[in-house]
Amino acid sequence: MNQTITVFRGDGIGPEITEAVLEILNAAGAPLNYEVFDVGAAMFEKTGEFIPEAGLKSFEKNRILLKAPITTPIGKGFRSLNVTLRLKYDLWANIRPARTNPALDNRFDNVDVVTVRENTEDLYIGEEEEIDENTVHAIKRITRKASERIIRKAFEYAMENGRKKVTCVHKANILKKSDGMFLRIFEETAKEYPQIEADSMIVDAACMNLVMHPERFDVMVMPNLYGDIVSDLTSGLIGGLGLLPSCNLGDDHAMYEAVHGSAPDIAGKNIANPTALLLSACMMLDDIDQKECADTIRHALDQVFEEGKVLTPDLGGQSTTTQFVEEIIDHLNKK
Ligand code: NAI
Repeated sequence: MNQTITVFRGDGIGPEITEAVLEILNAAGAPLNYEVFDVGAAMFEKTGEFIPEAGLKSFEKNRILLKAPITTPIGKGFRSLNVTLRLKYDLWANIRPARTNPALDNRFDNVDVVTVRENTEDLYIGEEEEIDENTVHAIKRITRKASERIIRKAFEYAMENGRKKVTCVHKANILKKSDGMFLRIFEETAKEYPQIEADSMIVDAACMNLVMHPERFDVMVMPNLYGDIVSDLTSGLIGGLGLLPSCNLGDDHAMYEAVHGSAPDIAGKNIANPTALLLSACMMLDDIDQKECADTIRHALDQVFEEGKVLTPDLGGQSTTTQFVEEIIDHLNKK
């Protein structure tokens, strides 16, 4: 039986890459029905709502959301819709696997790291206080509950996916209480997983080492802000934001999205790379027991990369999104 999922088309390049991904899913015979909604800035101008109530109801019912990027206006008292969705549905685990595709022209050929990012607290609670006109405080909240569940998730992910090591990324040398607690919980939890090697690294050293020796890392777990930054860094190691998928998991709901944003600089030009959203959709298929379908899509994508004839400009090619999608569908049809 087909599974019904909710789809938010986003804005900027969102609608283009959503169409691309749905076309590929359909061509691959993914057993899915879609409830598709327009969300974001354009929607707000039309209706006064960034996300229509019907879209939220649909997600509450279906519990699975494939979400394209949404633009967040900067510094206008407006909380990011992404953060809002993560908090509203307590999507506490953000998993971002970054792996080099040997067919692509990369600076590194040996990157295979997974960022496991806490997704509900830290500076992203958005609590800022104006002390006086020249001083603002921002609250960084770290709790035992959120830290324990994300750290345990990282070890469980490592066990389930045949990974060997989990590295805790922190700044406990400066933030002795908040990151200090996160690190202590990591060290306590690690004892329960003797099969998995555990180590820790200060976030700045981790960034340097990721660029110098990416092969030393496997699964990394960290609070929200470092996860945001470090996972963009890992996308740079594997060829750019256009390639990095993610999922946001809660106890009852799951949201799958590309790591990149709405890329307003290339919106409407038919050159956006839909790979990150497509690989996010594959993570979704894995999670709903449709791994075979996900593998078929990943295989077709790998073949297109290997041939290197039809690539979007971010990957050094000259093809349009439409041509890239057609090429993937051609390979799906040949299988
Ligand atoms: P961005 O990720 O949208 O773009 C950064 C650079 O990467 C741009 O040069 C862009 O053209 C390129 N790029 C991104 N995705 C690409 C793709 N699929 N194919 C080819 N090139 C791609 O980051 P930026 O410009 O900082 O943010 C733009 C907007 O997106 C902001 O309003 C931001 O708040 C929002 N955003 C939304 C996210 C989400 O909805 N999950 C995540 C990150 C940012």
